[in-house]
Amino acid sequence: MRRYLYSWSKSGIKVFDSDVLILGSGIAGLYTAIKASEQFQITVLTKKTLEESNTGHAQGGIAVALDEEDSPTLHFEDTLKAGAGLCDPFVVRILVEEGPTCVEELMDMGAQFDRQNGALAFTREAAHSQRRILHAQGDATGWEIERALVAKVKENPMVNALEGRFVVDLLENHAGEIVGALVVNEETGELEGHLAKAVVLSTGGLGQVYRFTTNPSVATGDGMAIAIRAGADLMDMEFVQFHPTALLIPKAPRFLISEAVRGEGAHLINALGVRFMENVPGKELAPRDIVARAIWQEMNQGSVFLDFRPIGKERILERFPTIYQTCLNYGIDVLTTPLPIAPAAHYMMGGIATNSFGETSLPHLYAAGECACNGVHGANRLASNSLLDGLVFGARIVEEIRNKLKAKRPTWEEVLGPEGNLGSTRINGSVKQLGDRGLRNRIQDLMWSRVGILRDEAGLEKATELLKAWGRDDLSMHSVDDFETANLLTVGEVIAKAALERKESRGGHFRSDYPSRLDEPWQKHSLQNKEGYHVRYVPVSGTD
Ligand code: SIN
Repeated sequence: MRRYLYSWSKSGIKVFDSDVLILGSGIAGLYTAIKASEQFQITVLTKKTLEESNTGHAQGGIAVALDEEDSPTLHFEDTLKAGAGLCDPFVVRILVEEGPTCVEELMDMGAQFDRQNGALAFTREAAHSQRRILHAQGDATGWEIERALVAKVKENPMVNALEGRFVVDLLENHAGEIVGALVVNEETGELEGHLAKAVVLSTGGLGQVYRFTTNPSVATGDGMAIAIRAGADLMDMEFVQFHPTALLIPKAPRFLISEAVRGEGAHLINALGVRFMENVPGKELAPRDIVARAIWQEMNQGSVFLDFRPIGKERILERFPTIYQTCLNYGIDVLTTPLPIAPAAHYMMGGIATNSFGETSLPHLYAAGECACNGVHGANRLASNSLLDGLVFGARIVEEIRNKLKAKRPTWEEVLGPEGNLGSTRINGSVKQLGDRGLRNRIQDLMWSRVGILRDEAGLEKATELLKAWGRDDLSMHSVDDFETANLLTVGEVIAKAALERKESRGGHFRSDYPSRLDEPWQKHSLQNKEGYHVRYVPVSGTD
């Protein structure tokens, strides 16, 4: 695999530096930036606007044991159960115990959650034994969190937040330490070198590797791809979560229909009006992977619908104003009419392997949020645990770098450049032009049909073979769109290979040729690095 996506030149590039470089502007990136800015000079880079991230699109909310009837222990048990034997109990304990303080801090930063009679209001989602999901403006939780964090960042003189910066690759020194990132300024097409004593990847997920996803267009797996190119390990990449309910209307994007809708009482029905989850334990609130597969199977017989009507008109309008309005814009009034839905790729449980302080396998490189994997979500993330994950493990990175940050900032001289130094200092095409959309479409279709909700040996073998071949062809690299497509190809191949090797079914990974969960020998994490994405395994651990 190539080390750098783009042939660049070390001489003539504009260089910037700070103490900590944070890549990505979702909840993990911005919360980490704000906390780290108490002590350090921070640069945040984001490829579109600060507000545009998976976080902003989160509807349901943030799970946290703050209700008096709830406890971190109950939250711990629910998370482990949903994770299907692959959660690391040690990190889950950290998540549920440190989560309440982080959420209180988030509220101090300005995030306002819905209240009832002055007290925080909690809803329920699948596989939660308690009502423990905080939400904002009904179903606009992510937007509210982004609004508050972006406002805080903008008023903070210690944080330099730059929009329209696409990170091409990580930079290292002769000692193999990560010292910064090679970045494209999307306005000018110029390459920039951003140096720092520590680099934090918080670039979010990779839903765009699939034909159908609830994720926004920015979710192209960039952080995971640049990390593996630089030599970092990726973990548990076979575990992709498919959300059971996304809007299914021809030509419309698969808009997320929050699980909280089922949490408030909506029913899943088939074309005959039969409530097909009624006899499954947990009914509509069974773990996500189970509900998604049940819908997928039901769709073989015909359409599937989410019937909001059991919730009642007043409650629908109060709790789900965004969903109600969006569906109405597509011509469906959920107050009166069941909504056609289908599963869609939603969340990556795997990612850049880290310990509980966000340290990756590369020195001075940290990762938090969806692009990271510390074992907290196991094989199937408990709904609404991801925003909490971004907060808790972002905060722990700050704790770690307080103790570990190098005394001196790296210099441009010590950056290891590409051999020959014959490349360019700017993109040689138009930065904004669309790249090979034919290739991107082929990747998305292949991933959806062969590496999706149901997988088998033949399909996975075909997928790995094709993805490898497409990656070997000379990919043209003229625009950010090309870089994203190359990243999709990388993460797609990594997922397909991990899925091919795991010969069992567990959580988000379902093999129709190996339909059972087999703890012996498969209760273990997969790890892959750039050496052919070869899969090795490490035990699920109780310690760091
Ligand atoms: C949802 O609202 O259903 C999404 C919540 C999540 O993915 O955690």
